Amino acid sequence: MDTIAILDFGGQYTHLIANRIRRLGVYSEIVPSDIPASQCARFKGIILSGSPHSTLEENRPSFDEKIFTRGLPVLGLCYGHQLMAKTLGGKVVAGKYREYGIATIERKGESPLFDGLDISEQIWMSHGDAVEAVPSGFAVIGSTEGCAVAAMGNDTARLYGLQFHPEVTDTPKGMAILENFITICGCSRDWNTQTFLREMGDEIRKKCGQKKVFLLVSGGVDSTVAFTLLNKVLGENNVTGLHIDNGLMRYGESAAILEYMKASGFHNLHIVDATNTFLAALKNIADPEEKRRIIGTVFIRVQEQALRDLGLNPAEWILGQGTIYPDTIESAGTKHAERIKTHHNRVDAVMDLLEKGEIIEPLALLYKDEVRDIGKALGLPDALVWRHPFPGPGLGVRLLCSDGAMPDIDERTSSGVLDIAKKEGYEARALPLRSVGVQGDSRTYAHPALVMGPRDWDRLEALSTAITNKVRGVNRVVFGLWVDGDPQYRLVKAYVTRKRLDLLRAFDRIVTEALLKFGEYGIVWQMPVVLLPLVNSKGRQCAVLRPIMSQEAMTARFARLKEETIAYILDESRKIGDLGDVFYDTTHKPPATIEWE
Ligand code: XMP
Repeated sequence: MDTIAILDFGGQYTHLIANRIRRLGVYSEIVPSDIPASQCARFKGIILSGSPHSTLEENRPSFDEKIFTRGLPVLGLCYGHQLMAKTLGGKVVAGKYREYGIATIERKGESPLFDGLDISEQIWMSHGDAVEAVPSGFAVIGSTEGCAVAAMGNDTARLYGLQFHPEVTDTPKGMAILENFITICGCSRDWNTQTFLREMGDEIRKKCGQKKVFLLVSGGVDSTVAFTLLNKVLGENNVTGLHIDNGLMRYGESAAILEYMKASGFHNLHIVDATNTFLAALKNIADPEEKRRIIGTVFIRVQEQALRDLGLNPAEWILGQGTIYPDTIESAGTKHAERIKTHHNRVDAVMDLLEKGEIIEPLALLYKDEVRDIGKALGLPDALVWRHPFPGPGLGVRLLCSDGAMPDIDERTSSGVLDIAKKEGYEARALPLRSVGVQGDSRTYAHPALVMGPRDWDRLEALSTAITNKVRGVNRVVFGLWVDGDPQYRLVKAYVTRKRLDLLRAFDRIVTEALLKFGEYGIVWQMPVVLLPLVNSKGRQCAVLRPIMSQEAMTARFARLKEETIAYILDESRKIGDLGDVFYDTTHKPPATIEWE
C-alpha cells in the first residue's frame, strides 16, 4: 500500500496530519523524527511535523538530513518548514511577530502544491520563529502580512515548506493542499473507513486473547462507541461496562445514561456512586494538574474495586477505556510532545497498566469526528452520536479552584491589555487568576483578559487575537456579558465542594436548556460552562460561557450564540442566587484550550 510517513517532532497536530492523509484515501504512518533516511525507501512521500522545540535550539530532536537527498517528495509543516529551510542553507529567525490563529496568504508564482487555490486564501498559523531566507533552488510561493516566507517550494526537487497548518479546519483549502502533495508523491488512494474498522476488529481480538473487557463508560460519545464496538466484536458475555458517578457529572446525567443504555438493549452495564470518594480526594486541592491526576487515579482505583465487588476474577479481565487521540497528545503521550494538560485517562496509574499491556483502548488513534463516523457505522442513534463531548473529569475541571493567593499580574500585562483594548474602543483588565492555553505546540498558564464594550463579535474576535498575540501574560480573552456594578474582582479561596458543584450544575442546566430551546445544540460543537474562584464587587460568584465550534477538538473557534439564546441564559441565571457576573469566552484554540484547565 502506498504510504506517506509523518516524521514526529512532537507537534500537537502530527497525528492530525496522519488522520487527514488517511481521509484522503492514502495510508499514513507516524515515525520517529530520527528515522534513518535509508529506511525511508518504502514511503512515497514524507511530511515533517511541527514541534514545541525551535530549530534554533541546541538540543532539538535529532533528524537525518539525508532525507532531503533521496529524491522523495518532502513537505515540511511549521517547525518542519523551518527545519527544511535551515538544513538546506536558508535562514530562520526567532519571530518578532508571533502569530496564533487565522491569517491570509497571498500566493506568489505557480506551484503544483497550490493547484486549484485562489490567489488569496485563509490559513491558520501557530508559530513564534519564522523563515527569513529560503535555501537556493527554492522560491517563495506564499506570504502573509506577518510572515514573508509563509510557503516555499523547490518543484524540481519536490521539496515544499509551509509555515501554516493545512491539516486544521481553519485552513479551508488545507485538504486541497494535502491532496496536491499526495498527487506530487504519485500515491494511489486505496485506504478507507471500512478497511480501518476491519483492522480494528482484528486488533481487538488479538489484544484481548482469552480475556474479557471491563470498560469504563462515562456515557459520552467515545466510551459509548467503544462499548458498542467491543460488544459487537467480542460479544456481550465478554464485555462488562461500568459507569462511575464521580459526583462531577451534569444534572441528572448518570441516571439518563443508565436509562439510555437499557433502552438500547445493553444489559451488561453497571453503575457505582463514588461521589464521596472523589470529593474526599479533591478536598482542598487547587492546582489544575493535581486535580486532573487525582481524578484519573481515583477512576482506576474505583474501577478495580468494582471489579472485585462484582465478583469478577481480575485474571480473566482486562480494563478498557474510550480514550481518543487528543487525550494522548495533550498529555505529552508522544516522544517530543509537550504536556498541555493531563487527561484523566493518561495519569501514571493508567500509563503503568498500558505499559504492562493490561488496558485496552480501541479508539486511541482516532479523533472525535472519526469516532462519530464509527458510531454511525455501528448504528448508534444521532442523538447519541452528536452529543456534545464531556470530559472524563467532568465539572471537576470546570470548577476553577484557588487557595486565595493572588497570582501577580505584572505591569506590562495590565497596561498591554488596556492599551490595545482602548484603541479599539473597549475597557479592559487582566483577571487575577490563570487558565491553560496552547501556543505553538506548548502549554501556557496565563491570565485571561476581560474586555467590556459593544457586543460586536467581529470586533471582539479581532481584539481577542490582537491581545493574545501581543501580550505575553495573556492567553485568553473574555467579554463582560453581564457585569453588575464596578468591574472589580477578588480572588477567593475556593475548592471542589458540593455547594459549588450544585451552583455550576444549575447554571450548566440552564445553558443546555437554552441551546436546545433555540436550536443551537446541533450547531455549537461543545459548550463548557466554568465557575471561577472570583467574586464581583457585590460579593457574587463569576462564571464563564465557552461555546465553541470545532471538528476534532485540536483547534476550535469561539461560537457566536444568537441574541435570544444569550438573553434566555442571562434571564434564567439571575434566578440563581449566588451567581454574579457572566463572561463570554471569545478566544480560539489556540491560544486558549477549550476547557479552562
Ligand atoms: P482542551 O481543553 O484540551 O480539550 O482544548 C480538548 C477536548 O478534550 C476534552 N477534554 C477531556 N476529555 N478527559 C477527556 O475525556 C480529559 O481529561 C479531558 N480534558 C479535556 C475537552 O472537553 C475537549 O472536548
